[in-house]
Amino acid sequence: MRILRDRRQVVALSREWRRRDTQTLALVPTMGNLHEGHLALVRRARERGDRVLVSVFVNPLQFDRPDDLAAYPRTLEADAQKLAELGVDGLFCPDAGEMYPEGGPSEVRVVIPGISTLLEGASRPGHFDGVATVVAKLFNLVQPDVAVFGQKDYQQLRLIEAMVAALDFPVVIDSLPTVRADDGLALSSRNSRLSPQARERAPELYRSLYDVVAACKLEADSWPAAFSEPIAAAADRLGQAGFHLDYLSIRRADDLGEPQPGDTDLVLLAAAWLDGVRLIDNLRFGYGKFAGE
Ligand code: PAF
Repeated sequence: MRILRDRRQVVALSREWRRRDTQTLALVPTMGNLHEGHLALVRRARERGDRVLVSVFVNPLQFDRPDDLAAYPRTLEADAQKLAELGVDGLFCPDAGEMYPEGGPSEVRVVIPGISTLLEGASRPGHFDGVATVVAKLFNLVQPDVAVFGQKDYQQLRLIEAMVAALDFPVVIDSLPTVRADDGLALSSRNSRLSPQARERAPELYRSLYDVVAACKLEADSWPAAFSEPIAAAADRLGQAGFHLDYLSIRRADDLGEPQPGDTDLVLLAAAWLDGVRLIDNLRFGYGKFAGE
C-alpha cells in the first residue's frame, strides 16, 4: 500500500493508475479511527474499483468546536495496518497544512444551499460547508470513478449527492447501510469517548428510532398526526435515559424536506448528546398504504 502525504503525489498516482484505461478507481474518504463500518465501505470499494484509495484526514473545516476537533481520535498507524490487510492500494493522509496551505484562499467554501442548513447543519453552523469543501477537494485530487460513503451520516450523503449533481463531478456515489454493534448502536469513532455506563445506555437511541417508525407505520392512515405522539414518547424516553436530544425528526428521504401528504419514502433522523458525546442515527422507512418497506 502506498502511503501519500502530499497532494501532488495523489494526483500523480491517480494519473498513473488511470493511464491503463481499464482501471477504475474507488475512493473512500474518512477521518480515520477506522472501525468495522469504515472497513465495510473499503470492502465495497474493493468490489467497485480496480484500485482503492482511502483518505484519512481529520478536516478542521467541518468542526464547529475546537475541543471536539482536539478530542477526535487519531490512530493512523492502526488505520494503515487495517487498510493494508484489506488490500487497499493507496492511503492519502495529509496534514492540515497540506490540505489548506497557508496563504492559500482559505476562505473558499463549497456551499450547498438548503440541505446544509437543516438539522445537523442548523446545530453545527458551517459543518456541511466544511464537509462539501474537503470532499470536493478530494474528488479533484483523486479523480475517482466511484466514491463510497456510509448511510449513518445520512444528511452528509444527501449533501454530497447534491454537490456532485450541481457541480457535475464525474463520480458515482455509492453508499452502504449503517453497521451496528450487536445491541443496535451505530458504529462511530465517537463511541470510544463514551464512559462504560453511557455505552450501556447508548443503544436506546436506535431502539427509540425503531419504536417511532413501528408506531408511525401502524397509523399509516392518519398522517401527519401519526408522527407527533411517537416522537414525543421517544423524546421523553431518551430524556429519562440521560440523553439531551438535539433533534428527532421525520423528513423526506430524498431532500430532507418536511414530509407532505402522499410522501412515502421517509427517514427519521436523530442527534443527541450522551455523556458529553454527540451521537447521530437514522432509520429510513416506507410509509403509507402503498409504501414498500
Ligand atoms: O464522514 C466523514 O468521515 C467525513 O465527514 C468526510 C466525508 C471524510 C469528510 O471529512
